[in-house]
Amino acid sequence: MGKIWCIYFSPSGTTKVVMERIAAKMDGEKHTWDLLREPDVTPKTLQPEDVLLVGVPVFSGRIPTPCIPMLQSLKGAQTPAIAVAVYGNRDYDDALLELKNMLEEQAFLVIGAAAVVAQHSIFTKVAAGRPDAEDLEKLDLFSAECIERLQSGRMNWKELQVKGNKPYREISNVPMKPSADTTCTSCGLCARLCPVHAIDPANPRKTDQTRCISCTACIAACPQGARHFPKLMFVPASVAFEKKCAIRREPEWFL
Ligand SMILES: Cc1cc2nc3c(=O)[nH]c(=O)nc-3n(C[C@H](O)[C@H](O)[C@H](O)COP(=O)(O)O)c2cc1C
Repeated sequence: MGKIWCIYFSPSGTTKVVMERIAAKMDGEKHTWDLLREPDVTPKTLQPEDVLLVGVPVFSGRIPTPCIPMLQSLKGAQTPAIAVAVYGNRDYDDALLELKNMLEEQAFLVIGAAAVVAQHSIFTKVAAGRPDAEDLEKLDLFSAECIERLQSGRMNWKELQVKGNKPYREISNVPMKPSADTTCTSCGLCARLCPVHAIDPANPRKTDQTRCISCTACIAACPQGARHFPKLMFVPASVAFEKKCAIRREPEWFL
């Protein structure tokens, strides 16, 4: 194996946990790219002997839009890739298929794919605390199976079939947008991190509602815990959503 590229977009941190766990079992020089903290669209080419691991959270059944140009900056050379969609126990819809197709269009060979459940970043009582110990054990198993597939050699890598439909679901944004309360100290951390530049760095209490994608990076990053979704919308929506997503879903993978 050449370099192992571990790439993720993880506004509330669960995709990062999942990807680090999958990468941990793999031997080789690791190169991590956090798409939220190091946004970059400079073209990058991977070698045939490298391995690409990509993890994205599912946003309304799709890949989060800010990830797309960054992921498209990667070019493979029939480089093996592992695609992971992390979702909050509702559904991953077309996100895993979209990720797999995108990687294949960029000359990667997707040899393994997984849809993994994690705590919902908006409705945090849904799948609370996940990935849990049981999920992490399953991720170890997935990682071991991917390593076996990688070691079996190129002639044993066949095209994967993953769940999802094309045309993909229409892109839709969550109508609730977070804002800051009076405990905000205007430190500007949220504005620096926001992947769509929706927060005014000069006045972080101001959010451009039309740009915001509700990714929750600002909520997770705020050292004061000052950012929240508007209670009036959030409370009734969360009651309905928790009821709808109460049944535990399990990770699934495709090899
Ligand atoms: C804007 C937005 C849309 C989401 N849409 C879905 C969805 O369609 N299905 C689902 O099960 N979870 C959905 N989630 C939950 C996330 O996919 C899930 O919490 C994921 O673990 C977040 O990853 P992160 O912790 O790396 O940010 C959504 C979360 C956000 C912020």
